[in-house]
Amino acid sequence: RPLRVNLHSVLVVDMFFFLAFICECLGPTQKMNLFQSVTSALDNTLASDPTAVIFGEDVAFGGVFRCTVGLRDKYGKDRVFNTPLCEQGIVGFGIGVAVAGATAIAEIQFADYIYPAFDQIVNEAAKYRYRSGNLFDCGNLTIRAPWGCVGHGSLYHSQSPEAFFAHCPGIKVVIPRGPVQAKGLLLSCISDKNPCIFFEPKILYRAAVEQVPVEPYTIPLSQAEVLQEGSDVTLVAWGTQIHVMREVANMAQEKLGVSCEVIDLQTILPWDTETVCKSVVKTGRLLISHEAPITGGFAAEISSTVQEECFLNLEAPISRVCGYDTPFPHIFEPFYIPDKWKCLEAIKRMINY
Ligand SMILES: *[C@@H]1O[C@H](CO)[C@@H](O)[C@H](O)[C@H]1NC(C)=O
Repeated sequence: RPLRVNLHSVLVVDMFFFLAFICECLGPTQKMNLFQSVTSALDNTLASDPTAVIFGEDVAFGGVFRCTVGLRDKYGKDRVFNTPLCEQGIVGFGIGVAVAGATAIAEIQFADYIYPAFDQIVNEAAKYRYRSGNLFDCGNLTIRAPWGCVGHGSLYHSQSPEAFFAHCPGIKVVIPRGPVQAKGLLLSCISDKNPCIFFEPKILYRAAVEQVPVEPYTIPLSQAEVLQEGSDVTLVAWGTQIHVMREVANMAQEKLGVSCEVIDLQTILPWDTETVCKSVVKTGRLLISHEAPITGGFAAEISSTVQEECFLNLEAPISRVCGYDTPFPHIFEPFYIPDKWKCLEAIKRMINY
């Protein structure tokens, strides 16, 4: 698919920006794609934290996306092990492990299959600290899951369920856009004092390589990153869609002479309202885009907050370009996803409003 090619070139540009920064501050780097940078974060954690354990369906042999490859052999089968095919059991077990004082890293094989664990996540993990009056917590639980469209995943291997979890106080929800962010944000999730859900954009696992530090490092949660400054429209996205937004920003500049500011939200819950609102105060226009269905999607939350905070700065209604309110389709995926053309149309509408 053309999307892959575009993502690749965008990520290669990304690499140059980070290269200078990383070489200076964080020691030796290695070429890694996103799944390898996840492995590296897990490897660092198992090495430095003797209580850390990794478990899930098929993680022992490396996982379907190879994120845990080699770790069982390196750290032993009592630290990296398979579970039965039971997501509720995986997260329930993870909560117990974390409450008992160890670092629990659970893998759900696809975000589409996280729903059987929904009760354990929103009713148990998220509430544990609050309902015990801070006597107990399962903040050392991190749940990883591959997320988002992949070109051929159809209805059970393409979903983006972040908005379901964004409705739940007590957990954090994080989504990286590339290898460097994946490692830094995952290590932040693992060391965070709250249970975290880490969604990994599966189309990006092998999309590009970056120079990623071998040593552990963290990227702060709940901080959005301004990837490109601009004056006319703010574009907000996360994960895979941030690469579409960067392309849209270039098209808007070339075709319409419109200057876009591009923001990667990175953490969905709790999200960085300040960075987004500051940008909208400057540009007066906001486009939010995600693959998940538009109704009740996280763009709605951002839109509502921004109109409350920035009403007098807005030059046009806030735009959402999202998935349709249907199950994720198979052969119609190219029509379903919020591609660059739909986003560019939305920018035109806002500029001409
Ligand atoms: C979580 O992990 C940290 C660091 O390993 C540890 O100090 C802390 O006691 C753990 N929390 C619980 C509730 O066990």
